[in-house]
Amino acid sequence: MKGVVIAGGLATRLFPLTHATNKHLLPVYDKPMIFYPIQTLVQAGIKDILIIVSGPHAGHFIPVLKNGTDFGINHLEFAYQEKPDGGIADALALAEDFADNRPIVAILGDNTTDAKISTVVKEFKDGAVVFLKKVPDPHRFGVPRFDKKDHKRIVEIMEKPKKASSPYAVTGVYIYDEKVFDYIRKCKPSARGQLEITDVNNLYIKNNKLKWSELKGYWLDAGTCDTLTLANLYWAKKRGSRFFKRIIKEIAWGF
Ligand code: G1P
Repeated sequence: MKGVVIAGGLATRLFPLTHATNKHLLPVYDKPMIFYPIQTLVQAGIKDILIIVSGPHAGHFIPVLKNGTDFGINHLEFAYQEKPDGGIADALALAEDFADNRPIVAILGDNTTDAKISTVVKEFKDGAVVFLKKVPDPHRFGVPRFDKKDHKRIVEIMEKPKKASSPYAVTGVYIYDEKVFDYIRKCKPSARGQLEITDVNNLYIKNNKLKWSELKGYWLDAGTCDTLTLANLYWAKKRGSRFFKRIIKEIAWGF
């Protein structure tokens, strides 16, 4: 299967940091943010990868990722989303030729996780799979509503609802069959002016073709200053930072 990393957007929530470079190149402990989703794909055996970039710093990706060989990527391509605020589905539409009528794994460039997705990738047949994660603040994400009788069946996904109908976030990790591009063409811009990936997922639900799997591991969307700080702390600990105990002590002391 091929993989797509969606690394567009202007990341206004991270201004002024993102005046200097693209969000996905900001550090998460010892690596640029985009290394994490790339590694999630490579660990799942995906070595044919398209990175979708946008905005004024799109050129910054090339000297960092080069030809992808440092990651064990066989084939690395880039595409440029002309409307940086066009939305995730607008970015994914650029992957149609690359996908070549075959399924793709799509992952958002600011999603860092240590969960392994290889089993679900290998077992994928058709339709779509969304990966869910239980979070304390689901209203900040796409939130699945489950069937009242069949608790495993998602009946709708709501994008950033005022009141979340379940404790799960739809993470930015998805698997789609070749129909995804037709579904994207059916979508209209949302109230925030974007083509929403949630609308695409709801079309799969309507056609009874959406499955889900829970991400087993840590997951964080590092798209705000606070979650970026959290992601840095998590990965510092995970990588065995010798300084980590002191960081925790100092936080506990209120600095
Ligand atoms: C996007 C999606 C949302 C998803 C989230 C995961 O939100 O629209 O459904 O839960 O990514 O990171 P955005 O980053 O555009 O606010």
